[in-house]
This record gives sequence, C-alpha cells and structure tokens, in this order.
Amino acid sequence: MAKATVIYGSTTGMTEAVAQRLAALLGCEAVNINAADASSLDADLLVLGTSTWGVGDLQDDWMGAGTALLEAADLSGKKVAAFGVGDSMGFADSFCDGVATLVELATGKGAANVGAFPAADYDGAVSSRVCAGDQFLGLPLDETNEADKTDARLEKWSAQLKATL
Ligand SMILES: Cc1cc2nc3c(=O)[nH]c(=O)nc-3n(C[C@H](O)[C@H](O)[C@H](O)COP(=O)(O)O)c2cc1C
Repeated sequence: MAKATVIYGSTTGMTEAVAQRLAALLGCEAVNINAADASSLDADLLVLGTSTWGVGDLQDDWMGAGTALLEAADLSGKKVAAFGVGDSMGFADSFCDGVATLVELATGKGAANVGAFPAADYDGAVSSRVCAGDQFLGLPLDETNEADKTDARLEKWSAQLKATL
C-alpha cells in the first residue's frame, strides 16, 4: 500500500500540532525535521510542513540540514504536498511563503506537487509567493486569525491527498 509521511518544522508548536492532526487524518507518521534523515523520505507521498518567519523565511529547523536533506535526494516518482502555518493579517505579502519554498525545492528534485488548494474562503488579502492564480501551491493555515477554519481545511486537503495514494 502506498505510504505517506508528514515531515514538519515548528518553532512555537503551531505547525507541530497541525502536523499531528494531519498525520492522524492520513493515518501516517509525523516526523520533526530535526529527527529526519534520508530514510524519512522513503514514502510515496511526502507531506512537508513549515511555519514562516522573518519575512517569508522557512522555519529555522528547515534551514541548513533540513533543506540539505531534500537537496541531496532524488524525489523522482514521488508526490509532494506542502502545508504551512502563518499570519495572513500581519504578513499578507509573505503569508506562508515557506510553503512555496518547500514546493519549489521538492519539485526541483523531481517530485510532483499534488497539494494545490483553492484560494477561496481566506479572510486576508493574501499576495505572497504561495499564491498561484486561484490556487495556493499548498495548504496555508492561519492559527492566529482563522483557527476556526483549520479543521475543515485539513479534512478537505487530507481527502485530496488520500485520493492520490
Ligand atoms: C517575527 C515573526 C515573523 C513572522 N513572519 C511571518 C511571515 O513572514 N509570514 C507568515 O505567514 N507568518 C509569519 N509569522 C507568523 C508565524 O509563522 C506564526 O506565528 C506561526 O503560527 C508560527 O508557527 P510555529 O509555532 O509552528 O513555528 C511571523 C511571526 C513572527 C513572530
């Protein structure tokens, strides 16, 4: 049976909590990027999660060793989907930019992006790198301003991902 793995980086625990909810919905393991190694990439679907810090930067643990892990890999034949947690009101121009960075990194190593999500029903006027027309490149979440919408978004996205397995 096809296998999915969630790999996430989180500074204050927001993305970690979402990663665990997502892993429960997908019936798979959630691995902190701190504890990941090449064997963590041994899955048909990699579900990569990051919060965004600075202005549009990846979460700290993804920097360096985290991105190096992806850069060293051949992800041809694998599927990728990325999610992120950010602040769409405070950082509309860089809302969940880290999602775009992870998608670009993984597709650059040969993975196929299966995580695009409709950009409808978001409160903020988002204009960050996660935007791709009427879709987002992955699933951007906002636990600061729109936490009440996270459950429905996770359910919809996880069903979309399961259908690819
Ligand atoms: C200094 C600072 C910079 C931030 N920069 C961004 C940003 O550029 N884009 C964004 O969407 N969120 C930004 N955020 C919001 C965080 O990503 C958000 O609080 C997130 O929930 C943290 O998740 P974590 O606990 O998993 O790291 C920033 C927050 C702080 C305090």
